[in-house]
Amino acid sequence: MTEPFPPHRIEPFLDEAAILKRVDELADEIVDAVDGELHVVALLAGAIMFTADLVRALSRRGMNVRMSFIRASSYGAGTQSSGQVGLGPLPRLVGDDVLLVDDILDTGRTLGRVGAAIESLGAKSVRTVVLLDKPSRRVVKLGADHVGFSIPDAFVIGYGLDWAGRFRNLRDVRIVRFPDAADSDAAIEAPEI
Ligand code: IMP
Ligand code: MG
Repeated sequence: MTEPFPPHRIEPFLDEAAILKRVDELADEIVDAVDGELHVVALLAGAIMFTADLVRALSRRGMNVRMSFIRASSYGAGTQSSGQVGLGPLPRLVGDDVLLVDDILDTGRTLGRVGAAIESLGAKSVRTVVLLDKPSRRVVKLGADHVGFSIPDAFVIGYGLDWAGRFRNLRDVRIVRFPDAADSDAAIEAPEI
């Protein structure tokens, strides 16, 4: 790994088994809360892994869903949100009970923007599920109906979450630490993972 990655350390955070166990619990919650057909709308690209596991967990519980995808982007190459949320083409959702799926709820701008767009498309209802929630970072006042893990303010990668396009393929979630300049470990090599 080379530029533009600054010095950092990558630490384990949520292992694969813990994630899959929680996804199963979320599927139980959703099956309990919902009657009738759900239209799962997943945000690309971060929610791909979570969505793939969640819809299969729903399927194991006898719930069939429709699936659509919206491309939403708020991050560039850095680890801070740009504040702008760009949306790609929107699916037809008139009269549908939508389950909006995202990887992580951070400032809330993405879910706020997409939720409003989905309502304006005439969806009957919108329920939200996120794998991770960083409540301390909220700018837009909203919460998700179903939350996998509430986590502290840290930059996380893996299980769909990327850093400048990398690390989405990891099966677990890891934390990226940025040592400050005074930290003697600051010159640490970017670890291979
Ligand atoms: P929000 O619009 O600030 O709530 O941010 C939501 C989006 O930012 C998520 O869908 C992610 O794509 C991205 N994001 C937020 N926090 C992280 C993180 O820690 N790692 C990777 N991506 C993140
Ligand atoms: Mg995302």
